Amino acid sequence: MRLILLGPPGAGKGTQAQNIKDALNIVHISTGDIFRKNIKEETELGKEVKGYLEKGELVPDELTTRIVWDRLDQDDCKDGFLLDGFPRTLNQAKALDEGLKERSLELDWVINIDVDAKVLVKRLSGRRVCENCGASYHIDNNPPKENGKCDLCGKNVIQRDDDKEETVKNRIDVYNNSTKVLIDYYEKQGKIKNFDGTKAIDEISKEILDALR
Ligand code: AP5
Ligand code: ZN
Repeated sequence: MRLILLGPPGAGKGTQAQNIKDALNIVHISTGDIFRKNIKEETELGKEVKGYLEKGELVPDELTTRIVWDRLDQDDCKDGFLLDGFPRTLNQAKALDEGLKERSLELDWVINIDVDAKVLVKRLSGRRVCENCGASYHIDNNPPKENGKCDLCGKNVIQRDDDKEETVKNRIDVYNNSTKVLIDYYEKQGKIKNFDGTKAIDEISKEILDALR
């Protein structure tokens, strides 16, 4: 299955991706995770994108699209993929559509997770992530079983640099100005499935999986 996870920062895309990819046995591709890994490893790409992530601005479309296609063209994506954080602009969505068409592939569904902006700020400021595998937690709603350690790999759980309140607000503005239009774009293609992201994490996962089956 070829899927996109859409939603504002903090809607729970990464959290739901963990459950969906395992249940459907497909590859999870998060552009945010790819960028953060490159920043951590101080690669050329990392140096190029660092400033954008720190400010909560979008990385330029051309660069982001190229990175996504490099990943999608790998063998393990043949049986399906779950895109998380891409596309994020109309240009990216159009480039994805064109690339799929060139390869005679079709997108199955766009999973849109909706959450109110006030809730988003609370979620992101309380979020902690695994520095190794990127798994996402929340100090109140979804803490790791052992304090400060990832449930999946046992490594340290830390706060993301762009989860400071000012940057969070900018990321929400960027979503409203550049990404929100994609709901309409995919609605017109008849591909959208909407979910209330304020429900409990497991309940949302169940609803998503039921809707896809
Ligand atoms: P990215 O990493 O994609 O960040 P984001 O979209 O801002 O999304 P988040 O990871 O913040 O939120 P999420 O929806 O995954 O929520 P999560 O599951 O963690 O992008 C980062 C940056 O990279 C961008 O700002 C940009 O600079 C760049 N970038 C990335 N993609 C790009 C692109 N395509 N083009 C250009 N630039 C790009 O959950 C959040 C918190 O809430 C967690 O603590 C979680 O435990 C908790 N939570 C989740 N679900 C629930 C629930 N149901 N109830 C209660 N708590 C919950
Ligand atoms: Zn981990």
